[in-house]
Amino acid sequence: MTDKYLPKAEQKTEFVRSMFDGIAHRYDLVNRLMTLGLDRSWRRSAIRLMDLDRGSTIVDLGCGTGDLIREASRVGLQSIGIDLSFQMLVAARNVNAPFVQADASQLPIATGSIDGVVSGFALRNFSDQHTVFAEIYRALIPGGRLSILEVDRPQQRWIRFGHRIWFNHVVPRIGALFSVAAAYRYLPQSIAYLPSPQELETMLQSVGFAQIDRRQLQRGLAQIVTATKPMMSSC
Ligand SMILES: C[S@@+](CC[C@H](N)C(=O)[O-])C[C@H]1O[C@@H](n2cnc3c(N)ncnc32)[C@H](O)[C@@H]1O
Repeated sequence: MTDKYLPKAEQKTEFVRSMFDGIAHRYDLVNRLMTLGLDRSWRRSAIRLMDLDRGSTIVDLGCGTGDLIREASRVGLQSIGIDLSFQMLVAARNVNAPFVQADASQLPIATGSIDGVVSGFALRNFSDQHTVFAEIYRALIPGGRLSILEVDRPQQRWIRFGHRIWFNHVVPRIGALFSVAAAYRYLPQSIAYLPSPQELETMLQSVGFAQIDRRQLQRGLAQIVTATKPMMSSC
């Protein structure tokens, strides 16, 4: 598959914003279909692995329609949802949390004020991942936790084969049937924006994060990367 559905670097943020505006109304339905409902347990794990006390305040970065916020509220966390796409936030209107339309690379959050940041399937869409990590680090309190849920690249041959067929051929058809075809052609290609585990670890370390841990889910269909802002850190 070529990368003909990927935008030019300087157009990526606007491309991503308008793409998610366009698919917001059917986003949840297509998500459930294309992950066969597995995304729910992945989200629960992303929240659990943040390992924060009840009453802690978190930001859900690239919150979309608010699924992670629902899971967070089940374990007593208070969330603020931030997303680039206004229509995704409109689709999240039944979720009880404050929402802000903003770019993850310029967080409207005071320095050292947030206990945790969670982000689900948004990393690939950020134009400047390094700047986003620096912003997350700035916004967290010392000891604050980051949990990133993303798709992954399965290593085992047969799983990789099945995954490729599903992601490259079935998902775009599901998307075309129920939503906007072009958006679900972008989706498999956006894997090109996914940093390797080593690149991700290096990026997180370079902005100051420690205790970086990566777990694969369902043999590499998805992954959760967690990290901590050290207690002895400058904001
Ligand atoms: C694949 S959706 C994931 C939504 C939700 N987190 C979930 O788990 O279903 C990615 C979301 O990230 C948002 N996003 C992409 N780039 C962003 C940015 N630079 N700043 C904030 N949100 C962004 C998109 O608008 C979209 O809602």
